[in-house]
Amino acid sequence: MELQDKRVLVAGGSSGIGLAVARAAAAAGAAVTIAGRSGTRLEAAAATIPRAVERLPLDIGDEEQVAHAVAGRPPFDHIAVTAGEVRTAPLRKQKIAEAMAGMNTKFWGAWRVASLVPVVEGGSITLTSGAFAQRPAAGRVIAGAINAAIEGLARGLALELAPTRVNVVSPGLVDTPLWAGMPADRRQALFEKTAAALPARRVATAEDIAALYLTCMTVPVVTGTVLLADGGHVLV
Ligand SMILES: NC(=O)c1ccc[n+]([C@@H]2O[C@H](COP(=O)([O-])OP(=O)(O)OC[C@H]3O[C@@H](n4cnc5c(N)ncnc54)[C@H](OP(=O)(O)O)[C@@H]3O)[C@@H](O)[C@H]2O)c1
Repeated sequence: MELQDKRVLVAGGSSGIGLAVARAAAAAGAAVTIAGRSGTRLEAAAATIPRAVERLPLDIGDEEQVAHAVAGRPPFDHIAVTAGEVRTAPLRKQKIAEAMAGMNTKFWGAWRVASLVPVVEGGSITLTSGAFAQRPAAGRVIAGAINAAIEGLARGLALELAPTRVNVVSPGLVDTPLWAGMPADRRQALFEKTAAALPARRVATAEDIAALYLTCMTVPVVTGTVLLADGGHVLV
């Protein structure tokens, strides 16, 4: 399967992994649409992609916005969902509303996109989980629970939406703007410590991870599966 002239939507395409997916798909000849909440961020991201891409402002946490944004559009050939924001804290210190907000954007956001955005029969949807699904971490339980739920969602949708293929990419630590809020010295220390502990001895770049979304889009027998891109985190 080629991506030349295919219509590809990347929900979360204005930053990090999603932006790398958008760049890679555009480089492969796809007609790419990037979606995210901030119009400014979408414009800035589009300016870094050598080919023209469509910008679609929407919040996947809001059903009406998703439905409105895609109303009357032709179906996409491939959809990648990297959008979602999850705040983590120890169970007894986290307000349930905050945990539910993470579930609303990342899990229900993926659900909304799969449910409301038209995709061609035989196309693909690729969702994003994270290493905590397989290797939960004390103090970050909600992130693991949301990621595990997304993996379950994809397995079910691979059956229900067949022959459209549905998969998940599960990254470990990735050097993206997600970590921009952490002081630079602490971030550097975290990345170095993580790389040293991983069998792959490196923290992923967004481009490392993006390659797997393109695999999910283009390999016609990949469905209902989770592609781990965690540097071997599940083994240690
Ligand atoms: N980076 C890591 O270390 C890592 C590790 C494991 C898993 N992951 C997962 O990988 C995914 C992508 O992470 P990243 O590092 O690429 O993050 P990022 O650089 O912060 O990018 C997140 C993207 O999603 C968009 N977004 C966030 N909430 C949205 C919403 N409600 N509706 C629409 N768009 C929304 C953001 O744009 P706006 O803010 O403008 O909406 C942005 O384009 C996330 O699901 C994350 O949990 C990341």
